[in-house]
Amino acid sequence: MASNSFGNIFKITTFGESHGVGIGVVIDGIPPNLVIKETDIQHDLDRRKPGQSAVTTPRQEADKVEILSGVFEGKSTGAPIALLVRNSDQRTSDYDKIKGLFRPGHADYTTFTKYGIRDHRGGGRASGRETIGRVAAGAIAKKILEEKQINIAAYTLAIGDIVAKTKDFNFIEKNPVRTVDPEIVDAMVQKIEFVKAQNDSIGGIIETVVSHCPAGLGDPIFEKLNANLAYAMLSIGGIRGIEFGEGFAASRMTGSQHNDKFYMDGKNVRTLTNHAGGILGGMSNGENIIFRLAVKPTSSIAQRQATVNKEGKDIFCDIGGRHDPCLCPRMVPVVEAMTAIVLVDALMAQQAIKYGV
Ligand SMILES: Cc1cc2nc3c(=O)[nH]c(=O)nc-3n(C[C@H](O)[C@H](O)[C@H](O)COP(=O)(O)O)c2cc1C
Repeated sequence: MASNSFGNIFKITTFGESHGVGIGVVIDGIPPNLVIKETDIQHDLDRRKPGQSAVTTPRQEADKVEILSGVFEGKSTGAPIALLVRNSDQRTSDYDKIKGLFRPGHADYTTFTKYGIRDHRGGGRASGRETIGRVAAGAIAKKILEEKQINIAAYTLAIGDIVAKTKDFNFIEKNPVRTVDPEIVDAMVQKIEFVKAQNDSIGGIIETVVSHCPAGLGDPIFEKLNANLAYAMLSIGGIRGIEFGEGFAASRMTGSQHNDKFYMDGKNVRTLTNHAGGILGGMSNGENIIFRLAVKPTSSIAQRQATVNKEGKDIFCDIGGRHDPCLCPRMVPVVEAMTAIVLVDALMAQQAIKYGV
């Protein structure tokens, strides 16, 4: 399995399975003398962990991070930083009855077909728990961005057909679905509770806004900033689509409607509108970077479903375990983390260009 690393200069490698000893990440490329505290990393892991509210899975994992290497007296040394979270709330027996079959909507069939062996306990590497390593690395990437005042806000824009109309970024961490519209939160919670009561699940949309990103990050060809963000986002299990700025709606616009006209704001080049979503020709243009993600409904639902087993027989499966009826609330920190990792990597590439590396 040779696809566990992401990034060019700020490079992460995640490891571990959901029901193994633990999950973690090795991060290379962190500059020396960056203050790194376990509490900074723990904060974001707590935002991702299960059991946060009635609308997330009731699994209770402490998800406590341990710094294994690369930090001396509270500062990065320039050596690889290894972070580990030990698994604690493993009910492997939940997965015994699905051992020999392929759960609909999961990576079971494709993993078994590709490797001929599959860790059936909780999805193995395809588990949502793999994103612990990403969130831990993202917390460190965010510290580098903070020094440059670059800010990332990700939030639940929609759950099913309930869409946020107003945007109060200060509200995101004050509600269980991590939305931005105080008027809509009750309807979103009720929607999730309704589908849960039907033994079903629901999808949604996560929107991300990056503010104060300098112009020029990214590359005109294969390292386009939008291409790398799309790669990062589509590497998160359960993401089904991404659009920047107007996205698919741009296909219904004319050029005169869609072009963002430039103007001078003092010494700064700005645009009057932001239909492009802050990226032109693969490089940031200094406006807010805006993208939206289509999040699918959770695959694990407590309903009898048709499937096949390893022996090639048509059967039915009943999925046990404890799952999120909607992935959006816990996916928000993962999206923030992957955004931070892409941006830091792009910042470092920009520095490398300056020094002719
Ligand atoms: C933070 C997070 C938590 C997740 N939790 C679950 C879950 O409880 N149940 C589930 O069926 N899928 C969950 N998923 C989604 C699965 O990992 C994903 O659907 C599966 O690996 C198949 O990949 P695909 O949907 O991209 O095709 C989660 C994903 C993330 C990022």
